[in-house]
Amino acid sequence: MVDFYTEATMTDPQNKPTSQQPPSAELGADVANLRKSYERAALGESDSLADPLAQFGHWLQEAISAQVPEPNAMTLATVGHDLRPSTRVVLVKGFDARGIVWYTNYESRKGQQLSGNPWAALQFHWVELERVVRIEGRVEKVSAEESDAYFNSRPLDSRIGAWASPQSRVIAHRGELVAQAARYGAQFLLQPPRPPHWGGYRLQADRWEFWQGRPSRLHDRLSYRLQADGAWLRERLAP
Ligand SMILES: Cc1cc2nc3c(=O)[nH]c(=O)nc-3n(C[C@H](O)[C@H](O)[C@H](O)COP(=O)(O)O)c2cc1C
Repeated sequence: MVDFYTEATMTDPQNKPTSQQPPSAELGADVANLRKSYERAALGESDSLADPLAQFGHWLQEAISAQVPEPNAMTLATVGHDLRPSTRVVLVKGFDARGIVWYTNYESRKGQQLSGNPWAALQFHWVELERVVRIEGRVEKVSAEESDAYFNSRPLDSRIGAWASPQSRVIAHRGELVAQAARYGAQFLLQPPRPPHWGGYRLQADRWEFWQGRPSRLHDRLSYRLQADGAWLRERLAP
């Protein structure tokens, strides 16, 4: 079995591949043989909440309490005008009945895709809890006031970084970023305003799914779909 995560790989910033060879057949076989049985918990109709937002809050709290790494990290999927989906990780910064909020650069690849197609999907994977939450819906920008309030709560280097990084664009080398950060740091000193191209998005969910791993691949999946009357229809999906 190949040891994927040796100490050196994880901690040595100078560590780089020593071989130009493509991955070995042995690695391919090892990957195919990676298997895990999911045994930690169950998710039944009677122990899930009728409101998916409340169920999400309950699971997020459990993920935080269990100290899973980065419990607030979620994968965001968007689809551009070319109909090609793309994903990236972002951090949830708020959620309530209005939706799920994250912050980013509006001119980034995701920002451009969302400006043409507001439908998106989010996914949390809390590996240690053997749980996944999937959320789908329509995305809109949060208000300028909301973005300002969150921007101003960020550490100074993050606020400067929002100015310095033309997110998703090709840059010549890392030095360009560092120079831009120095430039904006000198320009704004301790009080950078929020860049006009940076702010929040909110996904208003109309579909949720809660997945709990179970033994023998007979996992629990509860789906919630928003009905025309505003009620949530909860259904069990085959794993
Ligand atoms: C754990 C983690 C959290 C991240 N959080 C954010 C975030 O909140 N906002 C953001 O714009 N990018 C975040 N990123 C970087 C994105 O994954 C991505 O590289 C960036 O947004 C550019 O994506 P795009 O080119 O598809 O627009 C995060 C990355 C990781 C690994």
